[in-house]
Parts: sequence; structure tokens; C-alpha cells
Amino acid sequence: MQSDAIAVASPIYTMGITAELKGLIDRGQYLWARKFILKTLFFPNEHIIQHKGVFISTAGLSWDNVFDAAFPAITAFFNGVGFEYYDNIIANNMDEFKGIKNHPTALKNAFEKGQTVVAVLKKLKAKFP
Ligand SMILES: Cc1cc2nc3c(=O)[nH]c(=O)nc-3n(C[C@H](O)[C@H](O)[C@H](O)COP(=O)(O)O)c2cc1C
Repeated sequence: MQSDAIAVASPIYTMGITAELKGLIDRGQYLWARKFILKTLFFPNEHIIQHKGVFISTAGLSWDNVFDAAFPAITAFFNGVGFEYYDNIIANNMDEFKGIKNHPTALKNAFEKGQTVVAVLKKLKAKFP
């Protein structure tokens, strides 16, 4: 909860996130209860825009929609912890590339997106010290 940015990573297993990541997300249900039942937790919009979440994933298949089933659970996680779901860093067709290092653009793309989110957070810190 002290972080400015969270990167959540999971490969696609059986068209969704891994059981391990799902377990972590389900463990966060106490935050939902604090917000909506106990009413002891509230994230103002100013807080949410200063906290960015990024989802990192790979998939074996080349399908354009191979990540679609993962996004709602990631959205629920970032909502739960009061973070804006800022971006995806995703690469499909890994069965063909046989390892991320063989992918023509994924690592460069990931690095650039990482730089961007840090730059955006720095600007927000200057605006809301
Ligand atoms: C149990 C299991 C289930 C998988 N299910 C899918 C799937 O449904 N769709 C898909 O595109 N890739 C699937 N994959 C492939 C992984 O997404 C792929 O191996 C991974 O993204 C590449 O990362 P890695 O090099 O760390 O394994 C599956 C892999 C495993 C081990």
C-alpha cells in the first residue's frame, strides 16, 4: 500500500491468470469488505491517480483475445488496492518465439512502458507534493 506503482505479472494459463496470482487477488477481498461493509477504507480520486498499476503477461497462443479473460481479475485487484489500472505489458505467440528474448519488440516495449509510468508518476508527485 506504500508503493507508487505495482507491476502484477502472470503468464496465461488455461486462458486466464495463474492460480497463484488468483490466490493473491482473492486474499485482497478483506479490502473490499473494509470498503463496502465495514466502511473503514476509502481511496479518494487524488490517491488513485497517483498510484499506477501495470499488468505484465505472456501467452503461448497468437490469438488477439488471449488476454481478455485475465483483464477483469486484474481490474478487480487494482480497484481493491486503490490503484489506477494504467497499462498492460503483454506479448502473445510465445510458443512460436520460444522465449521472450527471441521476441522482436516485447522487451524494448516493456522497458519503454516502465519508463513512461515512472515519468508520469514523477510529474504527479510534483503536482501533488
Ligand atoms: C499449465 C499451462 C497452461 C497454459 N495455458 C495457456 C493458454 O490457455 N493459452 C495460451 O496462450 N498459453 C497457455 N500456456 C502457455 C504459457 O502462457 C506460455 O508458456 C508462457 O506465456 C510463456 O512464458 P514462460 O516462458 O515463462 O513459460 C499455458 C502454459 C501452461 C504451463
